Amino acid sequence: MGKIVIEGEHRLEGTVRINGAKNAALPIMAACILLNGPSRIRGIPNIVDIQTQSEILKELGGEVKRLEDGAIEIIFRDGENLDKYTAPYDLVSTMRASICVLGPLLTKRHKAKVSYPGGCVIGERPIDLHIKGLRAMGAQIETTEGYILASADKLAGTEVSMKGKYGTTVLGTCNVMSAAVLAEGTTVIEDAACEPEVQDLANFLNKAGAKISGIGGNKLIIEGVRELHGVDYEIIPDRIEAGTYMIAGAITKGDITLENAKQEHLIAIINKLREIGVDITTTTNSIHVKNNGIYHPIDLTTMPYPGMPTDIQAQFMALLCTIEGKSIVTEKVFPDRFMHAAELRRMGADIMVEGSCAIIKGIPFLSGTNVMVSDLRAGAGLVLAGLVAKGTTHVHRIYHLDRGYERLVERLSSLGAAIQRMSE
Ligand code: EPZ
Repeated sequence: MGKIVIEGEHRLEGTVRINGAKNAALPIMAACILLNGPSRIRGIPNIVDIQTQSEILKELGGEVKRLEDGAIEIIFRDGENLDKYTAPYDLVSTMRASICVLGPLLTKRHKAKVSYPGGCVIGERPIDLHIKGLRAMGAQIETTEGYILASADKLAGTEVSMKGKYGTTVLGTCNVMSAAVLAEGTTVIEDAACEPEVQDLANFLNKAGAKISGIGGNKLIIEGVRELHGVDYEIIPDRIEAGTYMIAGAITKGDITLENAKQEHLIAIINKLREIGVDITTTTNSIHVKNNGIYHPIDLTTMPYPGMPTDIQAQFMALLCTIEGKSIVTEKVFPDRFMHAAELRRMGADIMVEGSCAIIKGIPFLSGTNVMVSDLRAGAGLVLAGLVAKGTTHVHRIYHLDRGYERLVERLSSLGAAIQRMSE
């Protein structure tokens, strides 16, 4: 098992190219189950979650390979592998996003057996809305021996809301939309998630022959079609990876340029960084971040898109720890997602967590020490804190980071960070 070791206080400078979005790639890969013939998906990052999704698709009879040009080719064919409908525990337990094979399997193979996703350190993550949506379309769903067993001779269009206690659901919307594209009749998803990753899945499916309208809004209308064909598709840039590098530039008072970053997906992040005092300029495809003097404390609340993404909360918290004054972070998507706060405190941060709020009093400097990663984004926050801390930070349990950030150490190092990966 490896760790990341960072010698802090090095200013970042240079250019970094943003990869395709992990959270767009995972449901799009799952949606290939619906297609007849080969698809090429471009821009997919080389990270552990993608390898896990590839393994699941292979279990389900798909051919999955990385081509020389970096694209991933996925082949499913109509009428083949109908007896393969199980996503097993050993794979699903390592990645909750594997739940997004449920909708495609059900509509295409009329049966799905997917290991029930387990608990998660970022808080409760139920799948009641996924199940509600698929049941409304006519699926029979039960849970036995840790598996979700779903079956349906046919799925029929219906009207269903995806609204839950904490707003809408991203992967729940993806599952119901993926099931609806081959269902009989028209499905209307009310309170649909409209995250760019959901839009990307809808655009991918439409390119493959689906009829989805309302993309980008909270009401999706899906007319079922009889079949879908393979496509060549480039996924959107990863807005969370982009946000993470923007904060890396901001926290080190650096000067960095992001290529392949879509500013329209990053409005909430850009606006908050500007409110803090970070100087940001954008072109169609790139974002330039540099230090513009004094930073100010802020209040920040995570929300479904187009609000502030929960997946960037830990990274912002690291930055706010270093800004004089009181900042308040409110988490409205996963109200318990504050595991990183205790680790930041080990670095000297002054953070008080009360329910779904964290009150942060900025201090002159963080101090390097040993910290433990609890999940992917918490890990990103700790690495950012390490970049600016006095002394050496040892970040442990970095397998979480390998799930979602491609070559993080190499890319930060190329920007001037004193960072390396070492064995424990
Ligand atoms: C997706 O998870 C992302 N994962 C998460 O990113 C992200 O944090 C999250 O959306 C919110 O933006 C992928 O896309 C692979 P949700 P998802 O269903 O879809 C509640 C990362 O670090 N809820 O939108 O599983 C739920 O408890 C990951 O890249 C229900 O109540 O999240 C939460 O409070 C972590 N019932 C809220 O909705 C349900 O059936 C939003 O969750 C489903 C969810």
